[in-house]
Order: sequence, then structure tokens, then C-alpha cells
Amino acid sequence: EKMPVNITVNGKAHKLSIEPRVTLLDLLREQLHLTGTKKGCDYGQCGACTVHVDGQRVNSCLTLAMTVDGKKVTTIEGLAKGDELHPMQEAFIKHDGFQCGYCTPGQIMSAVACIREGHADSETEIREYMSGNICRCGAYPNIVNAIQEVKN
Ligand code: FES
Repeated sequence: EKMPVNITVNGKAHKLSIEPRVTLLDLLREQLHLTGTKKGCDYGQCGACTVHVDGQRVNSCLTLAMTVDGKKVTTIEGLAKGDELHPMQEAFIKHDGFQCGYCTPGQIMSAVACIREGHADSETEIREYMSGNICRCGAYPNIVNAIQEVKN
């Protein structure tokens, strides 16, 4: 049986009717067609699906969409202001913070949260906070550099 949910995504309000078992990740990708948020593992191990819910980062694959009723979600599509990239997006480009790019939306959403939540004071702290975001290409040093640049 479907249930009503009201979710604001990147500033836009949506009234939806969903199955209770639908994850936020599937809702974003399949119902709202916001495919910037990636599905890597679908069980909380890779971080590719990271988004913000009321400003807190979450793994959207582990979040039931119903639990986000009445909340504000930000995805990678919501970071730029028109043609102007978010400073973290600029920094990832400048520092080559990606190779294949699959993990990048999740990395950037975590990176923004890392600074906002005050966990970017040292490389160790950044690496600890970012440890849930896996990069198979091994762009980690460049990702840390990007975060440090935006922090400073
Ligand atoms: Fe959610 Fe991997 S897809 S953590």
C-alpha cells in the first residue's frame, strides 16, 4: 500500500505516493530522475549515495523515503547556483579529486558536510570523516587537498 510523503528536494517541494519499503536513493533516482546520486553497493558500505537531509549527511540507500517526510533533501544537483559551481565542486576540479567520477557526487556531499560539521581541521580528521566514501581510483590525497583548500 502506498503512503503519501512530502519532500523538498533542492528547494522544490514534491508530494509523492510511495511504497513504504522505497529508499530515498531509489526515490531520488527513479521517481525524481535525479541520477547524480549514485548507487554503488546499496547497503551502506561505499558512500556513493550520500545526500544531505536537513543539512546532515546520510547514506540515501539506508534511508527509507518515508522517514524523510516533511524534510529538506539536498543532492549534488542542488549544490551549484545556476552556472556557478559550489566552491567544493571547483576545488575537486582544480585538485583532480576524481578519475572515473562515479563516487564523486557522494564524495562532494560528504566533503561539504565535513567542513560544515567542523571535522576538517587536520588531514587525519578529514580522512576519518571521509572514510565512509570509497574511491576505487584512489583519488584520496587529491580529495583531501580539495577539502583543505575550501576550508582555508
Ligand atoms: Fe549507499 Fe553504497 S550505495 S553506501
